[in-house]
Amino acid sequence: MSHPAQNQGLIRDYQLPTPEPDSPFRPRKPYRFGTLCATVDNPEQKDQYGSSSVPIYQTSTFKGVDGQYDYTRSGNPTRSHLGEFMIFSVSQGIRRQSPTEHHIAKISSAGHAFAVSSGMAALDVILRLLKPGDEVIAGDDLYGGTNRLLTYLKTHGGVIVHHVDTTNPVNLHKYTTAGKTAMVLLESPTNPLLKIADLATIAAQVKQRAPNALVIVDNTMMSPYLQRPLEYGADIVYDSATKYLSGHHDLMAGVITCNDDNLAKVRARTLLLCLMDSLMYILVASSIYHQLDR
Ligand SMILES: Cc1ncc(COP(=O)(O)O)c(C=O)c1O
Repeated sequence: MSHPAQNQGLIRDYQLPTPEPDSPFRPRKPYRFGTLCATVDNPEQKDQYGSSSVPIYQTSTFKGVDGQYDYTRSGNPTRSHLGEFMIFSVSQGIRRQSPTEHHIAKISSAGHAFAVSSGMAALDVILRLLKPGDEVIAGDDLYGGTNRLLTYLKTHGGVIVHHVDTTNPVNLHKYTTAGKTAMVLLESPTNPLLKIADLATIAAQVKQRAPNALVIVDNTMMSPYLQRPLEYGADIVYDSATKYLSGHHDLMAGVITCNDDNLAKVRARTLLLCLMDSLMYILVASSIYHQLDR
């Protein structure tokens, strides 16, 4: 049976070219999640020397060969592997036009993904979509740093924040108003109380009641292995990759994923993850499946 989100086109197709089947009677099969994680190969970005590990391009500027890379803040091949490059969907035969961190996008069912220096940096760049007078609905149990940032925006940025118990979608109705509600910020499970929100129901009801409101999910507590909120209708998902995604506590990073081309433009307004950390992420995130599964 197909996943309900598949019918709505919410699940991205990452059928990377798997090895040639050794028999015409055994068709190619899409990679499973563990293989997707372990495969850092980007068919769109072959290394010029065929290196089997990801090379590090420790440079701030490029000569703009073929109009590709010019300045590392906007793009660097090492980060691309993570990897900021065009997603290539074999089955649909389309090339997406915008740069995307390939590995993260692939394991998150996302059209766009990018990495920043921490989870808080990810939230910061997302919350900059708000303007004075906008209303935000957020949980009543949130990561402390998230609460602090929301409180700052409330006191300094003219943003109105409503905290509700998100374990019951009905609790959000009172504050979900078309034209006013700009964002719904969810954690599931929440940190620290591990409260669960029905992401699919909330996302569907928010879209019905306030079509322009963005549903944002902090997926830190789950990682893309256990939950991919874009498949449930979220508009933007972020992770403190400092946690599960970094695996061995070696790294601070934040990742942002979305499907909308316009929302993906927030990428240009922030400082992306540095190169050594991008490389480190690739090394550890490729084993996330095994770390969480075994
Ligand atoms: C649920 C959650 N979101 C966001 C963050 C912030 O992430 P970072 O520490 O990478 O800035 C944390 C950190 O503990 C967290 O637990």
